[in-house]
Amino acid sequence: MKITVVGAGNVGATCADVLAYREIANEVILVDIKEGVAEGKALDIWQKSPINLYDTRTVGSTNDYSVTAGSDVVVITSGLPRKPGMTRDDLIQTNAGIVKSVTENVIQHSPDAVIIIVSNPLDVMTYQAHLTSGKSRNKVMGMAGILDTARYRAFLAEKLDVSPKDIQAVLMGGHGDTMVPLPRYTTVGGIPVTELISDSDLDAIVERTKFGGGELVKLMGTSAWYAPGSAAAQMAEAVVKDQKRVFPVCIKLEGEYGIDDCYLGVPVILGKNGIEKVIELELNDDEKAMLETSRTHVKEVMAVLDNLNS
Ligand code: NAI
Ligand code: 2OP
Repeated sequence: MKITVVGAGNVGATCADVLAYREIANEVILVDIKEGVAEGKALDIWQKSPINLYDTRTVGSTNDYSVTAGSDVVVITSGLPRKPGMTRDDLIQTNAGIVKSVTENVIQHSPDAVIIIVSNPLDVMTYQAHLTSGKSRNKVMGMAGILDTARYRAFLAEKLDVSPKDIQAVLMGGHGDTMVPLPRYTTVGGIPVTELISDSDLDAIVERTKFGGGELVKLMGTSAWYAPGSAAAQMAEAVVKDQKRVFPVCIKLEGEYGIDDCYLGVPVILGKNGIEKVIELELNDDEKAMLETSRTHVKEVMAVLDNLNS
């Protein structure tokens, strides 16, 4: 199996490292536009293999996509990260141009690849890649739900003083402040979380999760990379190993949840064909209202992209 990661910055390099040391693919190709950076980071990851004991071959390239040919999965992380004071949506113009040109190159050399978008604003960059690639919707998806859900699970684990391994949860909607938390689908070792935590503590955790990306931007002056890189690698793994994992993933909705023509995070089954099924949960009125707010927001940003592309 061969996986390409485009963008050898913080998220891309972390993703390539996880893919390599966990031997998720035999070959990992890292591509960046900055001369030598992808080659250097790929060489560094390869030189770590005798220490950490893996044999995934890692190769870097400066904008030469011929080495990516025949990739099974391509993860696109190229683009500007958020800086303090910026929203994810502020990145739209620059990152849309980058995602468009990268997707064109990817498709030319790996027409059958499953494409996983990480660049922000996530839901709308997934739209851009889907438009540019002309692929079916199940092969072009965005990573955000695994990250948002991981933040929520980590905060809950800390509060309840339990292992994060035992917390199962799903969040839906757009990546950002309008994400849709679903506490009634959150369990701790099979026990509904609502049995273990007060409403006010749970509300505080949900609010912290909504602004989880911004919390890290404020602390570091740029956005996060360890959890995002690992989340993208986990999605790539589900595809190349045909694991049929159930994850929240951004996809173009075509009638599910009563929503048409909008890119939003929803629970799906991820396997060798990409998104193999969209799972439709029964939402209550509050959850439906939150999903509608999310849809309205993403549609507004999609309209900005449509204007840029027209
Ligand atoms: P970074 O600045 O560390 O890395 C971005 C890399 O993209 C740079 O090395 C840059 O040279 C490269 N690049 C730019 N244009 C390119 C092109 N045309 N072709 C190939 N490479 C190109 O940024 P970081 O922290 O890795 O973040 C990357 C993106 O991921 C940002 O848009 C960020 O907002 C987003 N992000 C999304 C998350 C999510 O949950 N979906 C989470 C974290 C970050
Ligand atoms: C994050 O949530 C900024 O999307 C990025 O960390």
